[in-house]
Amino acid sequence: MWWADAVIYQIYPRSFQDSDGDGVGDLRGIEQRLDHLAWLGVDALWLSPIYPSPMHDFGYDVADYKDVDPVFGALSDFDRLVAAARERGLRVLLDVVPCHTSIEHRWFREHPDWYIWADEPNNWSSAFGGTAWTKLNGRYYLHSFYPEQADLDWRNPEVVAAMQDAFRFWIERGAAGYRVDAIDRLMKDPQLRDDPLASEPFGLPLREDEAKLALTYSRNAPDTGEALARIREAVGDALLVGEIYLPSAKWQPYLDHLDRAFAFELLHAPWDPERLRSAIEATSSRPGAAWVLSNHDFGRLVTRFGPENARSAALLLLTLPGPAFLYQGDEIGLADGPGGERVYDRAGRDRYRHPMQWDGSPSGGFTSGEAWLPPVDPEETNVEAQHDDPRSMLSLVRDLLTVRRLLGDGLELIEAGPGVLAYRRGDHAIAINTTPERQPAALDGDLVLETRPGAFSRGVLAPHAGAISRA
Ligand code: GLC
Repeated sequence: MWWADAVIYQIYPRSFQDSDGDGVGDLRGIEQRLDHLAWLGVDALWLSPIYPSPMHDFGYDVADYKDVDPVFGALSDFDRLVAAARERGLRVLLDVVPCHTSIEHRWFREHPDWYIWADEPNNWSSAFGGTAWTKLNGRYYLHSFYPEQADLDWRNPEVVAAMQDAFRFWIERGAAGYRVDAIDRLMKDPQLRDDPLASEPFGLPLREDEAKLALTYSRNAPDTGEALARIREAVGDALLVGEIYLPSAKWQPYLDHLDRAFAFELLHAPWDPERLRSAIEATSSRPGAAWVLSNHDFGRLVTRFGPENARSAALLLLTLPGPAFLYQGDEIGLADGPGGERVYDRAGRDRYRHPMQWDGSPSGGFTSGEAWLPPVDPEETNVEAQHDDPRSMLSLVRDLLTVRRLLGDGLELIEAGPGVLAYRRGDHAIAINTTPERQPAALDGDLVLETRPGAFSRGVLAPHAGAISRA
C-alpha cells in the first residue's frame, strides 16, 4: 500500500497560494507550489473541498459534487494539478462530504425526499450549537452542521447511487482517494428518537450541551457499514481516510470499509506525557490510525502546544507508525492568527486558516492582491527564510520525513524519565521531554536527529526537546 507510512500534506485551498490576484488561493496556485512539497518529501496532498459552494462552510457545503468552484479554477486546472503532482511523485486526495449538501445544491430543490425531514424537531443538536432542525415549508429538515448544510438520507437508494457517481468521478480523474468528512454522522436513527441523557463520558471533547446527551441516535447508527460498503464499492482500492469523531474503541465498523481513521484522541491530548502516552496506547492497540495533530478545525502546533513544544510535536506526529497528516504551515511553525475584520466562519475557525507564508513580503508571497484573511507574521515566519537554514523548523520537518522512512516496524512505548514520552520503533528510540526542565532520558546508541542542536547530550534531554537514536 503506497499510503502505509505516507505523509499526507493538508492543503486548505483558499489559503495556500493565489495565482490570479483575487486574494483567494486556487488550483493553479497549488500547482505553482508543488516543488515545495516535493522538496519537503511528502507523499501526497489532500485538498480540503474545491467543489462549487456558496461557502457558508468554505466548501463543506457542496453545491455540485462534480465540478470545481470558479474561485479555485476549473476542472481542467484539477487535471493539470494531478498531472503535475504525478510528475513529482505526489498523489492527490480530495475531501468528500457525503453526510450533507448545501441547501443550494439542486438536489435539495429537485429531490427533497433525498434529505431527512420531520414534522417536529427532536432533541438532536448541530455540531456548531443549537438545534439540528430548520423549518422549511411547514416541515423541518435535519442539519448536523450549519443550517445551510442539509443532511442526506443514505437509506434512499437514489442518494446512494448519486453519491457513488460523485465518488467515482474524481477517482476516474486521477484522485488517489478521499478524506471522508464527518462520516460518523452519515447514518442516524431512522425513527429519529431523542438522544437520551449521557451516563458515561463520550471519550472526546464535546460542547457542554452536547456532552449531556448520549448521542445514541443522532449519529453512528448500527447500519452505517452498509452505506460505507457502497462507498467502498464506488472507489475500488483508493485510499479512504475517515473523519470519525469517535474514540478509537468505536472505529471497527468503520474500518471494515475505510482504510484509516483520524486519531482524535491524540489530537486532543494536552502536552502531558501521561495523556499523550495513553492516547497513543489506546489508538495504536488496533490498526487503523491516521495521525494528525492539527487541521483547519482545531488549530496549529505552535499555538496548541506552545512555540517551545512545536518541534517536539512535529517529531511525535512524524515518528508514529502509519500515515500522518501534516497541515500546511505547520512545517514552518506558523501560529494561529487573530482572524480578520470580517468573520467568515461563525464557529470561530478563521484563525486556523490564515494564508501560507512563503516569503517575508507583506503578503507573505501568498497573493499579489489583498488576501481574504491577512497573513499572520510573514516577516517572522516564512518558507524562504527557513529553506536553507539547517536549524529551522522547516529543515527539521524535512529531516524527519527522511528519518521516518528508516524507522522499524511496530511501536513499543517505553519507560523513560519523569516528564519524558519515549517509544521504540525497531532499532530506533524516540524520546520527548515535555517539561521546562532538563530530564534524563535513556536513548542508547547513535544520535540520529534532535529537535535543536545540542538537544540531547550525555543522557540528558534539554527542556521541551526531543531526539531519535539508533541502537
Ligand atoms: C468536518 C470538517 C469541518 C466541517 C464539517 C462539516 O468536520 O472538517 O470543517 O465544518 O465537517 O462538513
